[in-house]
Amino acid sequence: MAHLLLVHGPNLNLLGTREPEVYGRTTLADINRQMEQAAVQAGHTLSHFQSNHEGAIVDWVQQHAPEAAYLMINPGALTHTSVAIRDAILAVGIPAIEVHLSNVHRREPFRRHSYLADICVGQVVGFGAHSYQLALQAVCHLLQPDSPSPSPS
Ligand code: DQA
Repeated sequence: MAHLLLVHGPNLNLLGTREPEVYGRTTLADINRQMEQAAVQAGHTLSHFQSNHEGAIVDWVQQHAPEAAYLMINPGALTHTSVAIRDAILAVGIPAIEVHLSNVHRREPFRRHSYLADICVGQVVGFGAHSYQLALQAVCHLLQPDSPSPSPS
């Protein structure tokens, strides 16, 4: 059994009504509930957090990483700007998976750069709310004792 962290960045509190043609109609509460249920079914526990503020995300990651095995994070727009969140993940040394609802590579060019991608185990992008479930599946796979190392280096 492991403890997992799920973090959502700015504007993801508006999921369900925010640009539904891009992000779908599933609310953040729905996503969190589905992720909690799936984590428990897999024998794990999960804590989640959303903030519109970069520093609050840094604080939460610093505070909760010591008791957790994996971080799943959709940093929202902070993906493309935040050295602070990148440094927080490196500082606490928690393995992380980057999650996006939309396929950031098919959108505006500025969304193609992520400050997290190269320090994450992997990315899941473009599957709407299901991206989160896919990230959780990957984490459960990686937590199996016979799982190969996720890092090729
Ligand atoms: C997003 C993609 C980001 O570029 C955007 O700023 C978001 C949502 C996604 O999940 O598709 O807020 O992270």
